[in-house]
Amino acid sequence: MRKLIATASLTAILLVSCTPKAATSTATAGTSTSTAEQMAQGKTIFENSCGRCHKLPDPASHNPVQWVGIMNSMAPKAKLTDEQHQWVYDYIVSVKK
Ligand code: HEC
Repeated sequence: MRKLIATASLTAILLVSCTPKAATSTATAGTSTSTAEQMAQGKTIFENSCGRCHKLPDPASHNPVQWVGIMNSMAPKAKLTDEQHQWVYDYIVSVKK
């Protein structure tokens, strides 16, 4: 269990530290990290899909590690594809200060 949590937080930290760079300096196409365009899509999907069953959640209400778990349970509810799941997650985490 410890190990699982450590892995999850490491992933989240990696995602957090990579995301701003992807949005600003990754102008080259063909990379697998979310581009600014994908983040914008993530925002749209979030706003359209995540407020249907409950109030639209506040991205600042949970930390990136908690969002990993929340998105794992909510993405299937919102019927997101793996890609959409990733974009929405990247968007949520990017909003947090
Ligand atoms: C089909 C309905 C449905 C959709 C769509 C949905 N949710 Fe939820 N959500 C729920 C229900 C039901 C709960 C409360 C029970 C639970 O935690 O499973 C919940 C709880 C939550 C919580 C609180 C969890 C906590 O631990 O405090 C968050 C945050 C959340 N959802 C985020 C999202 C996000 C982000 C999306 C979009 C990807 C989303 N939800 C889409 C039904 C939905």
